[in-house]
Amino acid sequence: MLSGLFRNASHMYDCTSRVLQHYGGIVEVKVLWCTSMNFLITSDPMNADYMLSKNFPNYEKRSEIREILEPLGDGIINSDSNWWAYQRKMMHSIIKNSKFELFLMKVVQQKVVTSLIPLLNHISKSEIEVDLQEVFKRFTFDNSCLMVLGFDPISLSVEFPKRTYEKAFDEIEEAILYRHIVPNWCWKLQRWLPIGKEKKLRKAWDAFDRFLNQCIASKLEELLSREKTHLEEAKFNLLTAYMMLGEIVNMGVCSKSNKFLRCTAFNLIAAGSDTLGSGLAWFFRLIATHPFVDMKILKEMKEKLMVKDDKKWECFGIQELGTLVYLHAALCEALRLYPVVAFDPRTAVKANILPSGHRISANTPIIISLYAIERMEEIWGEDCMQYKPERWISEQGGLIIVPSYKFTTFGGGPRSCLGKAMAFIQMKIVATSIIWYFHVEMIEGHPVSPSVSVVLHMKHGLKVRITKRRV
Ligand code: HEM
Repeated sequence: MLSGLFRNASHMYDCTSRVLQHYGGIVEVKVLWCTSMNFLITSDPMNADYMLSKNFPNYEKRSEIREILEPLGDGIINSDSNWWAYQRKMMHSIIKNSKFELFLMKVVQQKVVTSLIPLLNHISKSEIEVDLQEVFKRFTFDNSCLMVLGFDPISLSVEFPKRTYEKAFDEIEEAILYRHIVPNWCWKLQRWLPIGKEKKLRKAWDAFDRFLNQCIASKLEELLSREKTHLEEAKFNLLTAYMMLGEIVNMGVCSKSNKFLRCTAFNLIAAGSDTLGSGLAWFFRLIATHPFVDMKILKEMKEKLMVKDDKKWECFGIQELGTLVYLHAALCEALRLYPVVAFDPRTAVKANILPSGHRISANTPIIISLYAIERMEEIWGEDCMQYKPERWISEQGGLIIVPSYKFTTFGGGPRSCLGKAMAFIQMKIVATSIIWYFHVEMIEGHPVSPSVSVVLHMKHGLKVRITKRRV
């Protein structure tokens, strides 16, 4: 099967979906000379529900995946069992805090007003083409750093600067993809020597760690110098919030707490920046190719937010944004067709039988294809390949709630995405402000296809022309 996989690498998402459809939703992939690379792949929503929710403890991330994701350390994305449960509880309590929500709104709105809109203004005035995917990548990286570290790298600016730690972050992602593709022995040998991609990874990893450790040290210093009563007034970024939890502060400035904070910061930036950037890029690509949807969003904004055509745009709060049902549907529909985390790998702890009837022996790796599930005719109907936000809206005009084993973009069960609400808030702020001021038009002939990468990016970026709708 490997030759087939390589031949179809450039369109592997659609290819695996077709194969899965043909073979009833589950396929065994065998790599004859390297049995440790054999795995099962499924798009059966019942199997997904069983693995992610009903029999969740039996399906962990296997040690091979943890090794591949080594730069993420022992952070939440890369851990299992008790250590994962402890981190999840801690992160949940911080993220769900209303102060954090307010802080998030403020950070994103400020970035939109001071960086994103002025940059798009400049691009529209200069009448130049722009890679909107790159714009969103920078926007979400800056926002993630602000939210997690309380530090703005200002990577979103007219010059498109490339700083050492941003380059390092991209190189780490590239090396992780490389580790997914080549056999284990190959990248481990390169790591041991060290040569090639692994040598580059080590350098990038050190550079990004230096950046994180500097931010951690300055935040710890700031925190320890404040009086307890003033802590509440401290900026509510995630790093400060973690440090304020008793246990972490008690660990002091020791290496144990630094390692924990470094892993947490890295995991949050990794989970929340490229995912969101790509999600926004796919959304705007669909809006540009479906002008009818664009007009309907604009109409809804005028009606529900009561903004007049000649009014200067202002950023709205969570409650007002929550009234935009059609916009929410348009975002869900974009994320259904392009789930930015396309595959979710798990390993069976004990032998088991899946709802599809397949017997699984212990230690079998199984990949859930979220991409294939979200394009299944049986779930989404004959028009499953079309972009139709209307499918998310009931006859009464409310949003249809789709269970997470059908709309799998944010995963499901106890390990589902912790940043889902945050992601929607950010996407709505960006979408409303861009749609209000600008018209996004695709450059004719620009090819758009998903790249083979950890996050579902567009291989050639999203080249667009931006024109002003209003002054
Ligand atoms: C469109 C945007 C996003 C999508 C599609 C997305 C998708 C996902 C998916 C599919 C998972 C489950 C992965 C697995 O099973 O291992 C996940 C986990 C996670 N996501 Fe997101 N995510 C997005 C944005 C965010 C944001 C903005 C944050 C905020 C920091 C975030 C934080 C997390 C965390 C912490 C986890 C790990 C949860 C755990 O293992 O318990 N995500 N995300």
